[in-house]
Parts: sequence; structure tokens; C-alpha cells
Amino acid sequence: MTDPIDVEVQKHGEDSIQRELFGTRLGFILAAVGSAVGLGNMWRFPYRVAEGGGAAFVTLYIILTLCLGIPLMLCEFSVGRRTRLSPIGAMRREGGGAWPLVGFLGVLTGLLILSYYSVIAGWVVRYGIEGILHGFAADPGAYFEQVTTGVAPIVYHIAFMVLTITIVSVGVEKGIEKASLILMPVLFTIVIGLAVWAATLVGSGEGYSFYLAPSFEELLNPTTLAEAGGQAFFSLSLGMGAMLTFASYLSRHENLNREATTIAFSDFGVAFTAGLVVFPVIAALGLQSQVSASTVGALFIALPGAFVEMGTMGRVVGIAFFFALTVGAVTSAVSLLEVVTASMIDEFKITRRPAAIGAGTLILLVGLLPATSLDALGVIDSITEWFLAVGALCMTIFVGWRMKDPVAEMVDGASGFFAAVVPTMMLFVKFVMPPIIAFVVFWSGRNAFNTLVTTLTGGG
Ligand code: TRP
Repeated sequence: MTDPIDVEVQKHGEDSIQRELFGTRLGFILAAVGSAVGLGNMWRFPYRVAEGGGAAFVTLYIILTLCLGIPLMLCEFSVGRRTRLSPIGAMRREGGGAWPLVGFLGVLTGLLILSYYSVIAGWVVRYGIEGILHGFAADPGAYFEQVTTGVAPIVYHIAFMVLTITIVSVGVEKGIEKASLILMPVLFTIVIGLAVWAATLVGSGEGYSFYLAPSFEELLNPTTLAEAGGQAFFSLSLGMGAMLTFASYLSRHENLNREATTIAFSDFGVAFTAGLVVFPVIAALGLQSQVSASTVGALFIALPGAFVEMGTMGRVVGIAFFFALTVGAVTSAVSLLEVVTASMIDEFKITRRPAAIGAGTLILLVGLLPATSLDALGVIDSITEWFLAVGALCMTIFVGWRMKDPVAEMVDGASGFFAAVVPTMMLFVKFVMPPIIAFVVFWSGRNAFNTLVTTLTGGG
């Protein structure tokens, strides 16, 4: 099941630099799926669904994952594999002019996302440890306070960053690929197990109908559309060059379009299954009001609350849930740090270890802000969501209008259906995607601006 891919030597003018490569096709797929599947699927997706009115959001989300997500991922893959460089260098090589700025925006976005992603991952780790040592707290609201204030979130954030830095320092094949090969199957198993368990709960029906029965008016709501788009980019790790960077470690034999499709479906599968855990559990315990309060912490309060009510079984299930979340968070954080690290390696011609440590330390320091302020965390989250949309728009225009013969890169290694649809998909990339993504850019920019203003004026 793992066909080895050969090692190729890259020629950079005179000097030939040996670029690291993924060892196997499965390793690449699991690393990319690992990047995609994370807090975005199991924490952000359900709370976005709750905010966006349930099934309508889910419907839009599926449509956007298929229509925007897969083509955009293919765009990132093609730029990464052709140039064999991280975002800034890739845009310089293929685009020239001001295009490297798009790569730079991507690196900045990655840095900012990881700065708060690691903070949330730190909470997750703490919940997991708490579950193991003492069981979940009887008053989950108060416990959430305790987890997110004072020095504790800083300590857990630092610990999580150290773990991430360690994996990235070890490298692509031995670090990132190995970790993903072991961790992703574990995560899939746990999430599916949890969904099956949730189906056995009495009173879960209302949760399913909220989640799965679309109301068609909501489908036309522009904010819902923009939020579903923003969530799709976030969840698929698109818009900042993470997938671009991973593809720069690929050989020419990969069927990029098939890989993009596999990754998008897996990512959607996990998010959807997480919803099948969260909504029935919440309905069964009548915790809807806590979730519709729609704060960042809703699920951190509602779910552990449910686990407590369910006694010993709840404790076991809760530990499994937080373990799966931790796994997802680690492999995603790795991809975020990899973008910044790879950019430092390529731009400053330094080796991996110092690059990973330098980039990681910088992110660790920036993260002190969201670690100490939930408001700051919310603001960074919404600003980076906007950055991702901007990055996605630029990337689409770049591949559609600037890159030389992108179709050739996209079909190299592809065959059958996956090769045949590429020319049509490119028309879509050129003419249909830019206006839709521009719409997402507009709304998510507005949203980021509003979040910033309400926070600064103390109304958040
Ligand atoms: N996709 C991840 C998640 O759903 C988060 C993530 C990892 C990400 N790398 C990214 C988001 C790059 C945007 C861009 O949790």
C-alpha cells in the first residue's frame, strides 16, 4: 500500500540542493489530512454550525468544500510541486513582481494562526489530563475559566509549542510523516467510535435534526455563505500555502487531483462525524443554550458538562474525545509551523533545526497574547480568517492568470477522470472562483473589522 517515491535532486542554478521528500504516497496523504483535520473539524466546525443555524451551514459547507476547496487545493499543490519551494520563494519563482508578497502574507497568517491554535490545543491537553487524573470538573463553566486564565494557559501553550517544534525539527519524513502515519488512524477510530456511542443516547434526536435538516432560507444568507467559505479554507488548511509547502516535498508521480479529492473528503468526513458526536450529546443533555451562546468556549463547557453527567462511561468517552482532539491539533500545528520553518530554510539558507526553533519561539512569544486574553484570541481568529480568504483569492488569480501552463503541472502524474476534468476545472478557477472568493473576502473582512471594533470598545 505504500509505493516508495524516488528521491530527486533539485537544481538551483549551479548548486544542487537535495530537498527532503515524503517517503511514501500514503505518508504524504496522511500528513496533508493531518494538517487539515484538527481543532477546525472537531471544535470550530460544530460551533460554526451552531452559529450558522445548523443544517443550512452544513449544506453550504459541503458545496464550498467541493467547489472551492478541491480546486484551490489543487492550485496550491501545483505551485508547490512545480517550484519545490515554500510560499515566498514559490511566488517569486513563478510569479515575480509583487507576487512574493502573497507568500509573505501566507507565512504571516501561519504564524498568527499557530499562535492561538497552540493556546486552544493547550486547553485541550489540560482537559484530557484532568479527565485522566480526576475526572471532568463538576462545574464546567468555572473550570473553563480556570483553564483559560492565569499562568496555566501559558504553561500549556508553551508545552504544546515545544512538542510541535520537536516534531518539525526532526524533519519531513521522520517527523511529520511518521507522526501522521501513527496518529491519524488513531483519530479516525476514536471519532467514529464516539459517533456510534452518541447514537445510543436517549434524546439525541433533536440534535440530529438541528444538524441535518436544512432550512432553505438560511442558504441565501450572505453571512452564512461567507462563514462557510471561511471555515472551509481553515479546515482544509488553504489560503496560506500550507498545502503548497507540503506539495513541495512531492515527487512528480503523484496524482495531485486525486490526492486533493481524497484529502478534502477525509477532512469533511471527520468534521461531519464530529458533528454527529457533538449535536446528539448536547441535545441528549439539553445543553443547547450553552452552545448557542456562541462563544469560543461553548463546546469546552457543554461537552465536558455532558461527560460529567454520564458518569464513568462519560469520563472514558471524554478522555477519548480530548485525546483525539490533541492528536488532530498536533498534526495541524506541525503543518502551520512547517510553513514558517520551510520559508526560513529557503529564504535564509539555514538548516532545519535552527529554523524550526527560531520560528517556533517567535510563535510561542506571539501566543502569549491570546494565551492571556480570550478577546485577543477571538480577534486574531477572525483576522486570520480574513487573511486566509485574501490568500485564497490571490492564489486562485495567480494560478488562473499568472502561472505558466498550470494544467500541465496538474495533470502530471494524474490519469483517467482526475486528469480529464482538469481543463474544465481551470476554467472554473479562472472565471468562477475569483468572484465567489472575493465575496467571502468582503464578508469576512467586515466580520473581522466588527470583531475588532466590538472588542476594542469593550462590547465583545
Ligand atoms: N486545518 C487545521 C484545522 O482544521 C488548521 C490548520 C492547519 C490550518 N494548517 C493550516 C488552517 C493552514 C489554515 C491554514 O484544525
